[in-house]
Amino acid sequence: MTEHRRFSDSRLVVASHNLGKVREIGELLAQFSIDVVSAGDLDLPEPEETGLTFEANAELKALAAATTANLPALADDSGLSVVALNGDPGIYSARWGGPGKDFNLAMKRAHEKLSSLDSTDRSAEFVCVLTLAWPDGHVETFRGTVQGDIVWPPKGDRGFGYDPIFQAKGMQRTFAEIDPAEKHAMSHRADAFNQLVDACFG
Ligand code: IMP
Repeated sequence: MTEHRRFSDSRLVVASHNLGKVREIGELLAQFSIDVVSAGDLDLPEPEETGLTFEANAELKALAAATTANLPALADDSGLSVVALNGDPGIYSARWGGPGKDFNLAMKRAHEKLSSLDSTDRSAEFVCVLTLAWPDGHVETFRGTVQGDIVWPPKGDRGFGYDPIFQAKGMQRTFAEIDPAEKHAMSHRADAFNQLVDACFG
């Protein structure tokens, strides 16, 4: 059995400048008595995501924040992986929104690429990799997923990113239409978070 390092500090940096992710991770961490601060609160620089996997990017973001802030840091690298698009946008999910991070544009791009194919396969998964890093360089990394389908047109105004076009398998509503608590019960982020809690907060 793998030995995991336990989290025993009272303060944690959420190593993200994405307000949607910071909010969701804050909600997931609310059950613990931890003082949660974000990379934005501490004015930490946003490292370039040079990794070629979700894991590599989550680890580089968590380590950069942990060593700069001298505090344990939790980073999330996540994205939408569409089967008929060979896994795209994948680790480039944020970049499909362009410099303005326009997710209406990113969703339209995914829809147009899918519509141009012969395939009618609309299946996709959201992936979330969470890395908890300590200032001494130790990392704990967990991958969570949720399976679903891409729908069009976009529906709902909750959540963030690609939520309006993602419908989890067995559901009739998109991630942007459901209650945040419902998303937390089944999302890729919740899946990775539950593994992290079992390993490091249990
Ligand atoms: P990154 O991890 O900073 O590279 O960005 C991940 C991108 O994936 C986000 O900007 C969103 O566009 C997308 N994404 C990740 N998680 C979710 C989610 O829960 N809902 C919708 N989109 C998401």
